[in-house]
Amino acid sequence: MPKVLRIKQTLVLPPTDKTISAAARLIRRGGLVAFPTETVYGLGAAATERRAVTRIFVAKGRPADNPLIVHVANLDQVKEVTSSLPGCALELMRHFWPGPLSLVLPRSAALPREVSAGLPTVAVRMPAHPVALSLIRAAGVPIAAPSANRSGRPSPTELRHVLEDLAGRIEAVIDGGFCRMGVESTVLDLSGSRPVILRPGGITREQLEAALGTEIYEGRGEKASLSPAPGWQYRHYAPRAPLILITGPRARREAMIRALASAYRRRGLKIGVLRASPGPAGVRQMAKDLFPALRRFDAQNVDLILAEGISPQGLGNTVMNRLRQAAARIIRV
Ligand code: TXA
Ligand code: MG
Repeated sequence: MPKVLRIKQTLVLPPTDKTISAAARLIRRGGLVAFPTETVYGLGAAATERRAVTRIFVAKGRPADNPLIVHVANLDQVKEVTSSLPGCALELMRHFWPGPLSLVLPRSAALPREVSAGLPTVAVRMPAHPVALSLIRAAGVPIAAPSANRSGRPSPTELRHVLEDLAGRIEAVIDGGFCRMGVESTVLDLSGSRPVILRPGGITREQLEAALGTEIYEGRGEKASLSPAPGWQYRHYAPRAPLILITGPRARREAMIRALASAYRRRGLKIGVLRASPGPAGVRQMAKDLFPALRRFDAQNVDLILAEGISPQGLGNTVMNRLRQAAARIIRV
């Protein structure tokens, strides 16, 4: 193996065939390896190994009742971890895999129950990232992987973020540069009588509806007491400084942000501002920059973050979901 860096005992691996084989061996032996996906970095362990899966919860400080997504590289692995596949699941896999869509399906009895936190279902996805796919293939087992952040922190979209949160707590991380999407996969529940979005993500409701030709409902995962996706009752994506989300028509929310920023600055507070550029490219950019921006504001020690809300359509819905989760307060103008 080429000379590799270690930070607090965690191996930092460049993405080569050799290092991916080494990382796969670590996974097979019950180790924890963080790896890039097209959404965010994942913290992987062999989904079939109870002890390895348990270690994920410890490393992240994740509550045991929040289930993990199992990452696969082929249909055989889907069959290994599930007990039945409805026709619409196969249809959606054809449309969106590899890609940012996690499907919640009845689980196989062989899977350690810790993976799905005791639920009768399991979330499965095939990531669209060559390093992730090579790693899963080389490991030869499905890989359980939540986002590679400490629980409650913004999800990691580059190597540095993974090391900030997990150096010394995991065996290795594979460097894949920046994640293309920057927000996590859509979690779609197919275990009930109709498909329900439990977490909006990289594949939009509009895309799913077009593929299935039916209306798709979205559970209220945000801050409601109703929490269809387990784990939603916990605070998520939270930067250290309080975040105020300002929603409403563009001109009014911009005026409100300007007014608040100058009022708080006059009081001597350091303010971070998160703005959206108009149009679909602006929304994609905001999705990609959201988590890095929250971490940047932490590093700059800002006292308060003002974030501009956007229209909750398409990927905008996903961005707004994450902003609402991160927000200490929402102002509608
Ligand atoms: O893009 C992603 O999905 C990233 C990358 C690494 O693949 N992973 C990720 O995992 O975001 P995590 O653990 O941060 O979020 C998983 C979400 C949680 O909201 C969890 O409650 C939900 O998926 N989930 C997992 N299994 C579930 C199940 N069986 N039923 C309902 N929700 C489930
Ligand atoms: Mg997460």
